[in-house]
Amino acid sequence: MKFFATCSRGTDGALRAELAALKLPAVRGGRGGVHFEGQLHHGAKACLHTRTGMRVLLELASFPAADAEALYQGARTVDWTSWLTERTTLAVETTGSSPTLTHGGFAALKVKDAVVDVLRDKLGARPDVDTRDPDVPIVLHLEGGQATLSLDLAGAPLHRRGWRTTTTVAPLKETLAAAVLLLGRVDPGAPFVDPLCGSGTLAIEQALRARRIAPGLDRAFAFQRWPCYRTELQSRWDKLRAQARAEVLPCAPAPILAMDLHPKAIDACRRNAHLAGVSADVVIEQGDARALTPRFEPGALCMNPPYGERLMDEEGAEHDRAAARTKERKLAGFYRGLAEMLDRHEGWSAVLLSGNPLLQEAMDRKPEIDHRLWNGPLEIHLLRYRL
Ligand SMILES: C[S@@+](CC[C@H](N)C(=O)[O-])C[C@H]1O[C@@H](n2cnc3c(N)ncnc32)[C@H](O)[C@@H]1O
Repeated sequence: MKFFATCSRGTDGALRAELAALKLPAVRGGRGGVHFEGQLHHGAKACLHTRTGMRVLLELASFPAADAEALYQGARTVDWTSWLTERTTLAVETTGSSPTLTHGGFAALKVKDAVVDVLRDKLGARPDVDTRDPDVPIVLHLEGGQATLSLDLAGAPLHRRGWRTTTTVAPLKETLAAAVLLLGRVDPGAPFVDPLCGSGTLAIEQALRARRIAPGLDRAFAFQRWPCYRTELQSRWDKLRAQARAEVLPCAPAPILAMDLHPKAIDACRRNAHLAGVSADVVIEQGDARALTPRFEPGALCMNPPYGERLMDEEGAEHDRAAARTKERKLAGFYRGLAEMLDRHEGWSAVLLSGNPLLQEAMDRKPEIDHRLWNGPLEIHLLRYRL
């Protein structure tokens, strides 16, 4: 079977390394994600262990689809009875784009019709659609004139680990935070500080890595609702989970500190760390990041500072532009305060997510890593410095 794990733009190197470390067969990079091959349990293993993957897709068919009829006929060639019965619900989602099939919703409808018709012909009954929580989520990917049909093994995307119920301003996705830790070469066994923790995503992901807690250990996956699960997968899956559970360390091997100036962020971080099962591993304190002094043996300082507001566009009124300049000066001063704090941490490494060039200017030193990432639509830089 062919699988494709997706990830957010710029993080595929981290995902490839993860999947290779899991010893999945035939791991290779692709556009927007990583391919691998194997059996269903290999796909399930990726769902259980990947910290950076967003989805794990099982590819069922790929064919040219110049128009709706070709899409319908191509989708009819799949033996859907291997994956669905009349009692399993389905939904079809379209990703990518096609020069001729420009309406994603309409293309999804054609695929849904094909699936339903195949099942009605073979079983004499049709499955229902459930767009909110389908048993079998089907993904139609359109690229150029080609259509690829896949099943989404995970269902709810993998960044939804289940522990982040409270967020503050501009939270990172869990998968992006995990990629930052991997791409920034943050050691899971060394001291870790996020002095601008917000809802705690970086510190909690670090604690999960440090304790070797598989991110999917306590969540449900769509494949567990597939008819083939009981017959082909369940005993393998139970074994994979038992192995993952046996690997969990009782506590993090080094201190992890999360700080924020704002009480609401501290509350959110506490609640999230508790739900993630790592509250004993993460010390959470209220304080000003700029006043931080070294607490432990050198490790990693990792943070996602506020990016500040965008400057006014050309049409902005003069007083708005003046206000924007004042804000920018304040932000530059704040970044200088952070850079001074980092200067006090000789021997540490600093991993910063920068959405504003003023931060790199304030650092006034050369990063050993400068990697482009995307936080949603925003281009940001992962910068790593040796202090
Ligand atoms: C972009 S958010 C971090 C989001 C976080 N990575 C998450 O995933 O939720 C930046 C955080 O910096 C905090 N902050 C701003 N100024 C601070 C200061 N001087 N000291 C400590 N925290 C500060 C804000 O309260 C905010 O939570």
